[in-house]
Amino acid sequence: MASRMQQLVQLTVALVALVALLHTPPAHADDIDELLNEFDEEDEELLRHIESQHVSRDYELEDQMARELANRIAAEHYGQPDGAGESDDAGPIEGRVPRLIDPCKGVRCGAGRVCRANVAEQRGECVCIPECPPETDPRRKVCTNRNETWDSACEVHRQRCLCNTADPGCRHEELRHVHIDYYGTCREMPECSENDLADFPRRMRDWLFNVMRDLALRNELPDAYLALEHEAESNMTKRWTNAAIWKWCELDGHPHDNTVSRHELFPIRAPLFALEHCIAPFLESCDPNRDHRISLQEWGKCLELEEDDLTARCAEIAKDEEANASDLHDAFV
Ligand SMILES: *[C@@H]1O[C@H](CO)[C@@H](O)[C@H](O)[C@H]1NC(C)=O
Ligand SMILES: *[C@@H]1O[C@H](CO)[C@@H](O)[C@H](O)[C@H]1NC(C)=O
Ligand SMILES: *[C@@H]1O[C@H](CO)[C@@H](O)[C@H](O)[C@H]1NC(C)=O
Repeated sequence: MASRMQQLVQLTVALVALVALLHTPPAHADDIDELLNEFDEEDEELLRHIESQHVSRDYELEDQMARELANRIAAEHYGQPDGAGESDDAGPIEGRVPRLIDPCKGVRCGAGRVCRANVAEQRGECVCIPECPPETDPRRKVCTNRNETWDSACEVHRQRCLCNTADPGCRHEELRHVHIDYYGTCREMPECSENDLADFPRRMRDWLFNVMRDLALRNELPDAYLALEHEAESNMTKRWTNAAIWKWCELDGHPHDNTVSRHELFPIRAPLFALEHCIAPFLESCDPNRDHRISLQEWGKCLELEEDDLTARCAEIAKDEEANASDLHDAFV
């Protein structure tokens, strides 16, 4: 089952791939970054949630590691292959190999955590991931809100987990609050010139459409948006509007409340930041009343679109998605 989270990750990949289409001299990240750095605990909770959904690809690996760990522990516990007769379903396995019940089956842990089998209590519990997969790809590096380059998102989540559980592996208490600011190494951000900023909405529109089309071609666009995409393909006047609706509706998922908060911008901001430095001033321009929330109207306006049929479509999609989303609400512990 392709979950919405996976699609989000795939989207990010597409975003990064397609951003090469855009050529902007980089720009300075101003107020929005200050805003993004002013966190209270509740904000952080939400950001973590979004962040962890965003790195769901890491989950697959973590889940796998968890299963291996669980199997190892179980194997140690039931070391000798006998007396495994407790399981009542299915027949005995040839050679009396013990049936290992994986207590971590179906357990999902948040970013930076893995499930560990608690054999005594027959349940899985989420613990900080013992080790992150080694990363040599520089594109997996992340810049934190402390302007420090880390090897991978996993390392950030792991360290945060260690600090939040008072583990001796916590390097500094402050790291309880560390989060990913953007993908790539930390760097000096040059200015976004007025000209570049003025041209940005056009390029953003084009690019959103290209990403949407690319996802559709690869069968990675959620069903709810396929109609939008088809329409955009066949009717030039809907091209940008529909792409804008798609992106906005998708960003507005935490929760679906008809407004995109600054935290919900994470999936668009973090991967683009290092490549498209006008993204920060652009996103800021999408929130002219500075209430930290971007309505669909504001989004349409800053993309320089007609706002006529924006609202109704989005509500439809959100409803459609919510109807199907029940099985996707994994426990982010
Ligand atoms: C962040 O770190 C980079 C690389 O060390 C440096 O060039 C840049 O000036 C720093 N940015 C800020 C805002 O301190
Ligand atoms: C939700 O389910 C309906 C029918 O059950 C389906 O037509 C629709 O495409 C689904 N939407 C998503 C986003 O999966
Ligand atoms: C294309 O979309 C516009 C704007 O919604 C609409 O007025 C027009 O009838 C559509 N054209 C076709 C061929 O569907």
